[in-house]
Amino acid sequence: MASSIVLFGPPGAGKGTQAGNIVSITGKPQVSTGDMLRAAVSAGTELGVEAKGYMDSGQLVPDEVIIGLIEERLTQSDAVNGVLFDGFPRTVAQAEALSHIAEVSIVIAIEVPDARIVERICGRYTCGGCGAVYHDTFNPTTNPGVCDHCGHTDMKRRADDNEGTVRNRLEAYHAQTSPLAAWYRKRDLFSAVNGDQGIDLVGEEIAALL
Ligand code: AP5
Ligand code: MG
Ligand code: ZN
Repeated sequence: MASSIVLFGPPGAGKGTQAGNIVSITGKPQVSTGDMLRAAVSAGTELGVEAKGYMDSGQLVPDEVIIGLIEERLTQSDAVNGVLFDGFPRTVAQAEALSHIAEVSIVIAIEVPDARIVERICGRYTCGGCGAVYHDTFNPTTNPGVCDHCGHTDMKRRADDNEGTVRNRLEAYHAQTSPLAAWYRKRDLFSAVNGDQGIDLVGEEIAALL
């Protein structure tokens, strides 16, 4: 049966970084609510206008907006064999809504201590061509400013990647998202990996779960 995977973890845990590998292993498309919301903000859609204020201040976008977005995404043909959710669900209400529309086979939590998060987020940049994720110190491009994967030269930094907003995102994570760990543990779906080690080692731990 078509089943989906949930990538779970605090901001900067490495969800986006690890997603590519999981997509190659499983063939399931990545569904990142953060990326979908950023696309809506850039396009200036009604959704983007509504979401921008929440995102810029590091708060969660309201559940009904996110659930609507996911319901629509799951009707697309590439989702029939399940997807890789990145950054969704983030509240118990989102997980409950998801349980009615898709089967989740595993929740992979990337665990990273808070103390590591700010340095990860503040050094992040992303390829504007293919979305590959880099870091000034921990994962730079081989040639400065040139994407290793697609050769594009327009590297982007996110509007919410600053120290003040990161602290609010972490607070939102602890208050609203981390309770989901117990919710999924109770359903025997939760597996944690150590995200506080090299990118390749995190990838190996994740691959062993798939
Ligand atoms: P979203 O885009 O999901 O952001 P996030 O959860 O804060 O997570 P990030 O994308 O910041 O981190 P990541 O875990 O993907 O880390 P990455 O791989 O990039 O959400 C943004 C906003 O949208 C939210 O604040 C909210 O407003 C809204 N939103 C989205 N989904 C929502 C939902 N479901 N409900 C409500 N609101 C929602 O890595 C980070 C950096 O670390 C990179 O530079 C990377 O190179 C580096 N790095 C990665 N792994 C390692 C490693 N092992 N060692 C060293 N460096 C590493
Ligand atoms: Mg991400
Ligand atoms: Zn690229």
